[in-house]
Amino acid sequence: MRLTNRWNRLVYRLWAPIYDTVLGAFFRPGRRRAMALLDPKPGERVLLIGVGTGADLPLLPAGVTALGIDLSAAMLARAHARLPLPGREVTLIEGDAQALPPGLGTFDAAVFNLVLSVVPDGAACLRETLRLLRPGGRIVIFDKFAPEGASPSPARRLLNGVTTLLGTDITRRLDDLVDRPDSRLSCRDEERRVDHSSHGERGTLGCVRVMVSTVSRNSGSTRGPWTSTSITGR
Ligand SMILES: C[S@@+](CC[C@H](N)C(=O)[O-])C[C@H]1O[C@@H](n2cnc3c(N)ncnc32)[C@H](O)[C@@H]1O
Repeated sequence: MRLTNRWNRLVYRLWAPIYDTVLGAFFRPGRRRAMALLDPKPGERVLLIGVGTGADLPLLPAGVTALGIDLSAAMLARAHARLPLPGREVTLIEGDAQALPPGLGTFDAAVFNLVLSVVPDGAACLRETLRLLRPGGRIVIFDKFAPEGASPSPARRLLNGVTTLLGTDITRRLDDLVDRPDSRLSCRDEERRVDHSSHGERGTLGCVRVMVSTVSRNSGSTRGPWTSTSITGR
């Protein structure tokens, strides 16, 4: 089974009332780590793709302006319940991150927490966001990808039958998302660092990758100490 918007709307309507209770504590360390790596600064505009119940919103520092987009009205309703957040200006919109609506403006940074394993077309989702990031913008990705450079194990594929029903594909690999010929994104391996400090071994369920990328539409990209992958528009 492949994830579709239709399926995700249904599944995340069911998840919405229990999402934070069931998964909140498990993903909290990775979520915190991701935000620390992204390091949004006061005055910056941050885009949260698949913002869900808004669990990342309280982690944004004061002075940040945030826009969260999500396909699921039910998940967004939970996020709305967190507002207002003192010192942060947060806007939430319902929509498809694979085809962002016009007029959103540009962003300094974007958060992809637990969403690239969910949207039907992760590459389109990345590409759309890249379009709105200013040159030198950063992205952080926190998710449970399969190990790179190998096919997902039979056990992982088997388990994926269940997780897909629950709205998550655990057989996706980050390299497939960013290195696809049609994705217009390139990810140079020598610049890739995967941060495992908040969760265990790569390739296990619950494994996460946390990375920050500088995005540049030119050849040069500025890299800070935590910069791990350069994703460049081709
Ligand atoms: C696993 S949840 C993660 C939510 C949140 N990012 C977090 O870290 O808790 C995945 C979210 O992606 C949303 N989603 C799925 N497909 C989407 C799409 N095409 N566009 C925007 N959001 C989508 C779902 O509705 C759900 O809220």
